[in-house]
Amino acid sequence: MIEDDHSPSLLDVRQITKSFAGVAALRGVDLTVRAGEVHCVLGQNGAGKSTLIKTLSGVHQPDGGTIHWQGEPTTIASPVAALGLGIATMYQELDVVDGLTVAENIFLGHENARGGVLRVAGSNRLAGELMTRLGHGSISPKTEVGTLSAANKQIVSMARALSHDTKLIIMDEPSAVLDSEEVKNLFRVVRELTASGIAVIYISHRLEEIRQIGDRITVIKDGRSTASGLAVSATPTAELIRLMTGRDVANVFPARVPVAADSPVVLQVEDLGLRGEFSGVDFTVRAGEIVGLAGLVGSGRSEILETVYGARKASTGRVSVSGTALRAGSVDSAVAAGIGLSPEERKSQGLLLDEPVFKNITLSTFGRFAVGGVLNDRRERDAAVEQIAALELRPDDPDRITRTLSGGNQQKILLARWLVHGTRVLLLDEPTRGVDVGARAEIYALIRRLAAAGNAIVIVSSEIEEVLGLADRVLVIGDGRVLATKDSTDIDEHGVLDLVMKGSAA
Ligand SMILES: Nc1ncnc2c1ncn2[C@@H]1O[C@H](COP(=O)(O)OP(=O)(O)OP(=O)(O)O)[C@@H](O)[C@H]1O
Ligand SMILES: [Mg+2]
Repeated sequence: MIEDDHSPSLLDVRQITKSFAGVAALRGVDLTVRAGEVHCVLGQNGAGKSTLIKTLSGVHQPDGGTIHWQGEPTTIASPVAALGLGIATMYQELDVVDGLTVAENIFLGHENARGGVLRVAGSNRLAGELMTRLGHGSISPKTEVGTLSAANKQIVSMARALSHDTKLIIMDEPSAVLDSEEVKNLFRVVRELTASGIAVIYISHRLEEIRQIGDRITVIKDGRSTASGLAVSATPTAELIRLMTGRDVANVFPARVPVAADSPVVLQVEDLGLRGEFSGVDFTVRAGEIVGLAGLVGSGRSEILETVYGARKASTGRVSVSGTALRAGSVDSAVAAGIGLSPEERKSQGLLLDEPVFKNITLSTFGRFAVGGVLNDRRERDAAVEQIAALELRPDDPDRITRTLSGGNQQKILLARWLVHGTRVLLLDEPTRGVDVGARAEIYALIRRLAAAGNAIVIVSSEIEEVLGLADRVLVIGDGRVLATKDSTDIDEHGVLDLVMKGSAA
């Protein structure tokens, strides 16, 4: 249900500006959202998308420009005020509270919950209904959120957005933590919402999603809207990429480099199992080789990486590097053997957000920069500066506090860490999560270079296309088992999904 062009818009943003400590994040953005539409906001990492939505959700106050809500000039003074207007936001960095239950998170700060009016039993029931509406009725409202996967945390965050009397839901990269099945489910819910007249602002770096779900698009480049309210159906993808980047980008995967026949096996995984998660996992990775794990969220992919890394203690089998077995459940033993892990959730597992960028890049290499036991900031910084240039980090300032970088740039820091570290085995979990189309090609090339330099690389991605495009060999994982091992040129996306579906039915 899209209103015709003459009806007043739900939201009308004109020439919004916002600077942080003199650095302009928004330089003039126009955005008009109509009731019942899915309005996509596109732009490269650091373009200003999250900053824009934070001015709409009451987190930031704009420095200039105007906001009209339902035809009236409006100031959105705080997140509570935004909710009061009917604007709910799902943030890019999941903001659920791990120590609380699903129901407690959904009704956190909820006016209905004040003064104990909403009783626990009542809130559990309501939370249960919301989770069921989102297709996740199997998750109990009493579950502690910290025990849920990133995908399920996202669902809780969405249930919270729906728990208010909402007219506009803003979703900042919701699909970044979801697999293809979960994205279908998300889109089903989005269609239900828009059918009932609710508007959705949808941010994603995956252009094919925009084609599927979006009605109109606003593109932001360097803090300015370069296009506002284009019809998705009338705008070719190449045009969108040009509006975002100012150039043509071919989203190509780097050419495969055939692994030399005499290239040694670096990583050997034999009969690895983790009770209740996966079992009987066997594979080898040779120097220069990239092996991909494909499968749905919950198939055990990330758990396999964490067990190889020793962050979880295997209940069966073993992991060896260059013929030497590692101690099960010992990260120290894995790191000493030259294994690095770039984790799925950069917020909780990977980055010290309140430290400067250079500290995060050199984090796992403290030993190398210590002089007489004292950390040498100078040498740390120099090493980091090199990688900041190599990865085209923006802004390219080693002293910036990590939290103030855009999501995609934070992802690059996690990768930069391993360039400084000098590993032999790299385990990459969702290496391009939240990374824009331009920077993706850079990261793919970087991963290929790390392989060419002799690393054995294992990559996990929810985007099957990415696994197939990047890896030499693919292990299809389903229900905690290796369902098949294929040369990546011998299987396509449908083939992988077919195996996964058959595997879970078996
Ligand atoms: N609190 C802050 N303090 C200082 N600078 C900030 C802050 N928040 C954002 N910025 C800067 O504003 C610019 C826009 O960032 P923003 O997070 O809006 O980008 P984005 O378009 O959401 O990118 P991504 O696709 O990577 O999520 C970036 O240069 C970022 O470093
Ligand atoms: Mg963002």
